[in-house]
Amino acid sequence: MTESKTVTKDSFLYEQVADQVGALVSSGALGPGDRVPSLRAMSRKYKVSIATVMQAYMQLENKGLIESRPQSGFFVREARGLPQPVHPSPAPRRPHRVQFGNTVETIFALANQQDIVPLGVANPAASLLPVRGLSSALRSVVSKHADEAVSYNFPPGVLSLRRQLALRLTGIAGEVDPEQILITNGATEGLMVALQTVARPGDVIAVATPSYFSVLQMIERLGMLALEIPSRADTGICLESLNMQLRKRKVSAVVLSANFSNPTGALMPEENKRELVRMMADFDVPLIEDDVFGDLSFESDRPRMCKAYDKTGSVITVSSYSKTLAPGFRVGWVMGGRYHRAIMQQKQLNSSATSSLTQLAVAAFLEEGYYDRHLITLRRAYRRQVGQLRSAIASSFPQGTRVSDPQGGFVTWVQVPGNIDTQSVYQLALKRGVSITPGFLFSTTGKYQQFMRLCAGHPWDERMSQGIVTLADVVREVGEQ
Ligand SMILES: Cc1ncc(COP(=O)(O)O)c(C=O)c1O
Repeated sequence: MTESKTVTKDSFLYEQVADQVGALVSSGALGPGDRVPSLRAMSRKYKVSIATVMQAYMQLENKGLIESRPQSGFFVREARGLPQPVHPSPAPRRPHRVQFGNTVETIFALANQQDIVPLGVANPAASLLPVRGLSSALRSVVSKHADEAVSYNFPPGVLSLRRQLALRLTGIAGEVDPEQILITNGATEGLMVALQTVARPGDVIAVATPSYFSVLQMIERLGMLALEIPSRADTGICLESLNMQLRKRKVSAVVLSANFSNPTGALMPEENKRELVRMMADFDVPLIEDDVFGDLSFESDRPRMCKAYDKTGSVITVSSYSKTLAPGFRVGWVMGGRYHRAIMQQKQLNSSATSSLTQLAVAAFLEEGYYDRHLITLRRAYRRQVGQLRSAIASSFPQGTRVSDPQGGFVTWVQVPGNIDTQSVYQLALKRGVSITPGFLFSTTGKYQQFMRLCAGHPWDERMSQGIVTLADVVREVGEQ
């Protein structure tokens, strides 16, 4: 009798301890790879025996939440071994028109809606951005350079900012001179003016598929056609397929992100970048590379841009500070290679200039040396958040789910099993307060119906954790319909 009482009490206690540790993981206090408090520390904290804590940890280990490492203790399990998504093949062999309806509009409209779990939009949370440092840079600009801040600063843009950029980009992009840089209204304007400069309506633009949907929309609005080149979720575009297409037909430009592409997070190996740039020069086709996530490598050194391998001026690099500093500032830039002058004229036609105030503020922030420090913290945060998102998917989603394993940025590409249509998942999840980006938006051909993009731009907390559980339920429900 006494014995069974003890057992009952003990099992109650170990479950309580297990629940406490589980709560630390779902609230984000403990992330993948973090050491779980030692047996002794937990035993002291909860006034239970070491054996009880051990029992709790073994239960958590059985559930796959934590793992023991010999002579090191217990750690929150990382979502290792989750298979990479496999893209449907064959890829379409002809260029397509783009048709998305109004889904993109809805996804952007949800970006700042507080009551929605933000897994859909590739936005950094304001809490991760250096709001105080940027506010103080803005105040200093207003007090010291008010005349300049209220005046037009026509293309190529504020010189102090271009100087700072040239310093930062030298090496990553080869030799960079401030004269080779044009400031734009975010990367969006950079991509648009680059496309407008190098291609005309009816022209074919090759894109690595899956591809950032705004690029596909631009191609549509400019009356051009998208030719989708297969790519892998880990190493990006398939160079053989691209080569075959370039031999076969006239292509006016290639658009891709070599560093942490959106939506897969793929990172092209340096050798592939070198070969791609060589291929572009051989076929005399411009490459438009979008590097908005390039600074967000999880390693201490960021990868180089394709621009670093460019000997003929065929590479047009587009980027911005939207994923790292302040999307609302709309500070982006273009290095246009041999198209630079024409791109600058196009930018002038599109929008005259970019806000002088935000350009000056970003320049001041960079001059003070704050950016590098901020970047260290930000990369660490995104790395952790991506790990937390992948682990939550691994423990909640149906068997057979595949997830990309990005080494930078904060977007993941998820493939659900069977014939589950993520457009239905998107609609039902939204009704339950969770936003995702359905896969069909990343192609012109609707071929990613079983995929979705999930973003980890927001710190992990109970709400995000619950959002994934809700989403996993929705995926199962849609699968049963
Ligand atoms: C790959 C990619 N390129 C460009 C952009 C647009 O950047 P910006 O806000 O600087 O215009 C985004 C934003 O989500 C993006 O993901």
